[in-house]
Amino acid sequence: MRWWDIEPVLELERELFPHDAWSPALFWSELAHARGPHATRRYLVAEDGAGRVVGYGGLAAAGGTGDVQTIAAARDHWGTGLGARLLTALLTAATDFECHEVLLEVRVDNDRARRLYERFGFETIGLRRGYYQPGNVDALVMRRPAGPAQDPATGHAPDPATEPQGTTTHG
Ligand SMILES: CC(C)(COP(=O)(O)OP(=O)(O)OC[C@H]1O[C@@H](n2cnc3c(N)ncnc32)[C@H](O)[C@@H]1OP(=O)(O)O)[C@@H](O)C(=O)NCCC(=O)NCCS
Repeated sequence: MRWWDIEPVLELERELFPHDAWSPALFWSELAHARGPHATRRYLVAEDGAGRVVGYGGLAAAGGTGDVQTIAAARDHWGTGLGARLLTALLTAATDFECHEVLLEVRVDNDRARRLYERFGFETIGLRRGYYQPGNVDALVMRRPAGPAQDPATGHAPDPATEPQGTTTHG
């Protein structure tokens, strides 16, 4: 993700996280930590064949632990494997940062995301009550050892040559 991606990412962000969308300042601040030899973040976007931003994700690394900060796919791409590809790329980033584990928080009522994470081997290790405000929705804390992601359907590493719908992912 580069600074010029922030605007289209914000459009998706506001649609997909209507109650707790990130601010432009938060994306700018995260991207500031994603460049250079001491980078602690990896942010990426997925574009369709026409160059439209259709997904994004970000990971922060600290003390050997990776944290999935955000992950989202445009609604018209749900169910195409884009979420799985973004998560695969974030897990690769965690390995690049030499993390030994990856954590994330997910709303207890976000069944779709929870299924995605479980397919990738994340396990629930805790509950944060009222983590999402407003709304007072609890978050599950999920954890997975760092390591290469495997396509849960095939048991093999995803093949970039068969990316669905011609989307490409880049940092
Ligand atoms: C969570 C989210 C990223 C998942 O993205 P996605 O692109 O739908 O994820 P995938 O397509 O990889 O997987 C979702 C489903 O599609 C199915 N699928 C995957 N690849 C497929 C393919 N090639 N063809 C058909 N179906 C496929 C999967 O089996 C999965 O179904 P299941 O959940 O019943 O097992 C997306 O729903 C989203 O952006 N939600 C809003 C933001 C959000 O909640 N983010 C998470 C915050 S913690």
